[in-house]
Amino acid sequence: MTTHAETLADKIREIAGDAPVKIGLILGSGLGHLAGAVEGVAIPYDELEGFPHAGVSGHVPELVIGQLEGVRVAVFGGRAHYYESGRGDAMRLPLEVLKALGAEVMIATNAAGSMVPEMPTGDIMCLTDHINFSGLNPLIGEPSEAKFVPMKDCYDPQLREIIAQAADTAEVDMHSGVYAWYSGPSFETVAEIKAIRTLGADAVGMSTVPEVILGRFLGLRCAAISSITNMAAGMSDENISHTHTKAMAPLGAAKLEKVLRAALPNI
Ligand code: HPA
Repeated sequence: MTTHAETLADKIREIAGDAPVKIGLILGSGLGHLAGAVEGVAIPYDELEGFPHAGVSGHVPELVIGQLEGVRVAVFGGRAHYYESGRGDAMRLPLEVLKALGAEVMIATNAAGSMVPEMPTGDIMCLTDHINFSGLNPLIGEPSEAKFVPMKDCYDPQLREIIAQAADTAEVDMHSGVYAWYSGPSFETVAEIKAIRTLGADAVGMSTVPEVILGRFLGLRCAAISSITNMAAGMSDENISHTHTKAMAPLGAAKLEKVLRAALPNI
C-alpha cells in the first residue's frame, strides 16, 4: 500500500525532478536565509497535504529541493514545534517524505540559549547529545516495535567529525555540547536554567529533539547545529524574547552557512 508520504514524495518529484535527495536540512528561527541559497524549486507547505502550517514568525513554510554546494538537498524552511499544536510528532510526515525522497541524512539547525559563559550570542554549537527535559516523545502511540529507538550516538559521530573539520576549513570557531529540549512556548525560569545546567546541558531550545528522535526512528543519520541567540535566563542581563531571537539569529546564521557549505560535499 502506498503511504501518504510516498504519495507526497511522488508529487514533489513531479515538480522538482526525480534525482534522489541526499540530505535534508531543517532551518531554525531566523535561519531561513539558507533556503534562498539553494538552486532549485520551492514548494509551499500548503501544497503538501498534511504538512504543518509552521505558523511561527521567523520561519518560511516552504520545502526547497535543489542543489547546494553540488549536493541535492531538501530544505525545510519551516518546522512545526510541539508548542504550536501540542503534538510532539508534528514533523513526522515531513521527515517521512524526506526519507521517501531518498535522503540518508538529516541536519537540523535551531536558535538556542547558551548556558556556557564562554559561548556567547552569535556563536554556534554542534550538538553532541541531548537531554529531553520536556519528557515528551514524538513516538508515543506508535504501534510498531520500531518505536524502541536506541538513542546512543543519535548525533552521528561521523557527521560530527565532518562538521568539525568543515568548521576548521571555514575558519569558524564552533563549540560542541549538549542541547536540552524545553517544550516552550514560555521561556525557562532562572531556576529551570540552573537545573538544566546542573544536569549537564550547554544550550537550551524548543525544537530539534523530537525531529532527531523521529529521524533515528526512520533510519536517518542525524546532526544538529545551534545558533546561540541569547544567554539563557539568569545567565546575563540580555533580553530574552522571540523578537530578540529572530534579531540575533543572523549572527550565528552566517557562521552556520559557512560550516554547512564546507561540510555538505564531504557527507
Ligand atoms: N530558551 C529556549 N529556547 C530558545 C532560547 C532560550 O533561551 N533562545 C532561543 N530559543
